[in-house]
Amino acid sequence: MTVKKEKLPRHVAIIMDGNGRWARSRALPRIEGHIAGIESVRDVVTTTRELHIPYLTLYAFSKENWTRPKKEVEALLSLLGLYLEKELPLMMENNVRFNAIGAISDLPVPLQQQLGGVMEKTGKNGSLLLTIALSYSGRQEILRAARLIAEETARGETTPLDEERFGTYLYTAGMPDPDLLIRTSGEMRLSNFLLWQMAYTEIYVTETLWPDFRGDAYKKALRDFTVRKRRFGSLKEI
Ligand code: IPE
Ligand code: IPE
Ligand code: MG
Repeated sequence: MTVKKEKLPRHVAIIMDGNGRWARSRALPRIEGHIAGIESVRDVVTTTRELHIPYLTLYAFSKENWTRPKKEVEALLSLLGLYLEKELPLMMENNVRFNAIGAISDLPVPLQQQLGGVMEKTGKNGSLLLTIALSYSGRQEILRAARLIAEETARGETTPLDEERFGTYLYTAGMPDPDLLIRTSGEMRLSNFLLWQMAYTEIYVTETLWPDFRGDAYKKALRDFTVRKRRFGSLKEI
């Protein structure tokens, strides 16, 4: 499948949803859906890199996901650890910089250390910034920024607060806002993902479940984006 490269998004955000349903439809335990979903992550990261899209942000675990059964949470976190271990050499080979956002201090300490290590080792890579959102909540991120700003103000900081400055207190500081949000498995909601950043993001929802969302399905979503007309509130189409 071909996509017009000049019209591709610079930043793609993805809500990777539907692993549980994928497993259920095969009479498998939910965790098997998460395992199968890792292959989709690999495919999507590779395609992103091949198309020279510089930013990819994946929603892997929400703050609200802590309310799931302990067994599922543990399995998800250990899968993440395995993924990182396996992918690190490939990230180095492919010049991918890894980044984790969210309330990282909520995670088990060994995983925090592993995340820190991968961020450090890949810190100088430049082809793609791969961000994984973990224990992430958009509302918490905005609150955190407001608290940081309030603290600085209390210490005497007087720089006027505008959207640009506010953005520098978010986890995504320095990144462009997502141009395209993809959500798999048909759910029409944001589920607390990048609430500030997605003010003008184009949304693409597909019924395809995350473990079935491979390179071709991704390219279809990207091609759909390339023919969208964006207006940002004006009468001009971009
Ligand atoms: C997405 O799949 C993975 C995470 C939220 C961690 P789900 O586990 O939400 O799968 P469904 O929505 O139950 O099918
Ligand atoms: C959103 O999926 C979170 C992630 C994909 C990590 P959920 O499955 O948790 O969202 P809801 O509960 O359907 O809104
Ligand atoms: Mg879900």
